[in-house]
Amino acid sequence: MTKKYTVTPWEVTGEVDYDKLIKEFGTEKINEHLLERIKKHTGELHYMLRRKIFFSHRDLNLVLDEYEKGMEFALYTGRGPSGNTHIGHLVPWIFCKYLQDKFGAELYFQITDDEKFMLKPELTLEKTNELGYENALDVIACGFNPDKTFIFVDTDYAKTLYKLSIQIAKKVTTSSAKAVFGFTNETNIGMMFWPAVQAAPCFLPSVLKGKKIRTLIPAAIDQDPYWRISRDVAPKLGFPKTAAIHNLFLPALTGQGSKMSASHEETAVYTTDSEDIVAKKIKKYAFSGGQATIDEHRKKGGNPDVDVSYQWLTFFEEDDKKLENIYREYKEGKMLTGELKQILTDKIVNFLKKHQEKREKAKKVLDKFILKD
Ligand code: TRP
Repeated sequence: MTKKYTVTPWEVTGEVDYDKLIKEFGTEKINEHLLERIKKHTGELHYMLRRKIFFSHRDLNLVLDEYEKGMEFALYTGRGPSGNTHIGHLVPWIFCKYLQDKFGAELYFQITDDEKFMLKPELTLEKTNELGYENALDVIACGFNPDKTFIFVDTDYAKTLYKLSIQIAKKVTTSSAKAVFGFTNETNIGMMFWPAVQAAPCFLPSVLKGKKIRTLIPAAIDQDPYWRISRDVAPKLGFPKTAAIHNLFLPALTGQGSKMSASHEETAVYTTDSEDIVAKKIKKYAFSGGQATIDEHRKKGGNPDVDVSYQWLTFFEEDDKKLENIYREYKEGKMLTGELKQILTDKIVNFLKKHQEKREKAKKVLDKFILKD
């Protein structure tokens, strides 16, 4: 059977088969037992765990074993500043905030102006750096604790990162980078080195604190190849192997299984979009699981499983009961596509209103979060 999808850190296309991906990547599915273990510490399970939006992991059991013995862990995640932040980017960040609150963990947040500069022919370093600090506002707007959150834009934290990156780079062969990331002879040499830079923050808390601190990375599963490299080299450098917890992609507004992309405006809602724009985009582009006519819809019902408005609600509507009702009513044909789109629009508009206020305030406290050297 031919594979109908591609998942690499730079490209996600086609209908992703997540179970297959777990096998291909060699990660583990999050099972009920693990959820129970998390629940012991968090009280309530985050809706992203209940709904299996976070569905896969590496060594999360080990993180909990150590936590139960009184050892701290640190969170690590990041953002590639190739454009404005869209709401798909916020998914792991919202989840990080929950983990920070529940476990008291520090968060190390990497913003990769260097990566996006080397990757995108049209972007200058000035531009990616500027976008980096814009994106940082969205991170802060998620509500992180300034005393426990460290955001760094790579080229402004290069001294620390470079020293760590070259230690990693020395242990990674070209053939392994080619196999893991699909690099070819046409790949520029900066990108060939790049995986070492994204792996570096896995070990940053240990370096900064002078003791072994395991990192746990909440991120979409396309980033996992980096963690494979980082886990391979960890024992060689005397660091704990990084752990990871992976989320599903927020589907593109236009549906058909693909991921939202910051470079295709119609597929995404940005954190800076106005109420009008959000409403228009959803109305015009949100892929519908509804029937062709109202009559037919009332008779046969809609298909929430392919409907992007419904899918998006699973990522942003916290109330399980509300979500179940919407699912049922849409499937039974009681709720029409227009009504479902309105529910989503209200939800996103409301969410963004609060986010934009917090984003504005973040400008004043940006310095408290930024690491430079
Ligand atoms: N490469 C990521 C991107 O393009 C950015 C990134 C750097 C990242 N470090 C990370 C993402 C850690 C998740 C976790 O978006």
